[in-house]
Amino acid sequence: MKIIRAKNYDDLSRKAANIISAQVIIKPDSVLGLATGSSPLGTYRQLIEWYRKGDLDFAGTSTFNLDEYRGIRADDGQSYHYFMQRNFFGQVNIPAERTHLPNGAEPDAARECSRYDEAIRAAGGIDLQLLGMGHNGHIGFNEPGEYFSKGTHCVDLAPSTIEANKRFFESADDVPRQAYTMGIQTIMLSRKILLVVSGEDKAEIVRKAFFGPVTPYVPASILQLHGDAVVIADNAALSLCDMGPEAVV
Ligand code: GLP
Repeated sequence: MKIIRAKNYDDLSRKAANIISAQVIIKPDSVLGLATGSSPLGTYRQLIEWYRKGDLDFAGTSTFNLDEYRGIRADDGQSYHYFMQRNFFGQVNIPAERTHLPNGAEPDAARECSRYDEAIRAAGGIDLQLLGMGHNGHIGFNEPGEYFSKGTHCVDLAPSTIEANKRFFESADDVPRQAYTMGIQTIMLSRKILLVVSGEDKAEIVRKAFFGPVTPYVPASILQLHGDAVVIADNAALSLCDMGPEAVV
């Protein structure tokens, strides 16, 4: 796994967008794995700008998002469907029928999770998966626990995740308690992985996840074992790590 140092959030976002655009230029029919949260927002903004300038074309791509809250409809303003529509899909030319997220409104968890895994398989797997990371090391909604999960599954959100995500809701009580998420195995099967992380509040978890032992208690630590994973972190997120412009761990 390679860790690349960025000066700040803008620099990080441009570097990440460069990697995604290279992927789309080299393979116009790429299957992109996408993420929500604040971390990838700058990356999406940069990709939109290049698309508007005519430097990028998403017409051949397909996308699969990591996760969606359970018990929420796609048109709900708090859904990840809505987030993606507003912050990315609505502003580039990815064909709508080739953008995929778990369906939070499907009450049958087993059915929805196997449908989603099958759709990823049918698309030929994910070429490049973009990730953020929670303060407890979660990726997607794979929370810390005793083992690494496999395929898409339904999770109970950790209290710290509910607390962190309440900023997008009126109150913590409004944050859904469950979500559908790709599993760790689904993520690890992606041919390339790109994780973006910024800010001093993530410095401790960056040190644990990428310079500590691989453990399901820090889910992102598994990325150390991926053959083609890149982490782009800004100076603030790397403030507790002793490394130069890049490191291989
Ligand atoms: C949510 C998402 C994750 C995301 C994490 C970090 O829980 N399910 O995919 O990586 O938040 O979010 P942020 O980037 O806002 O810190």
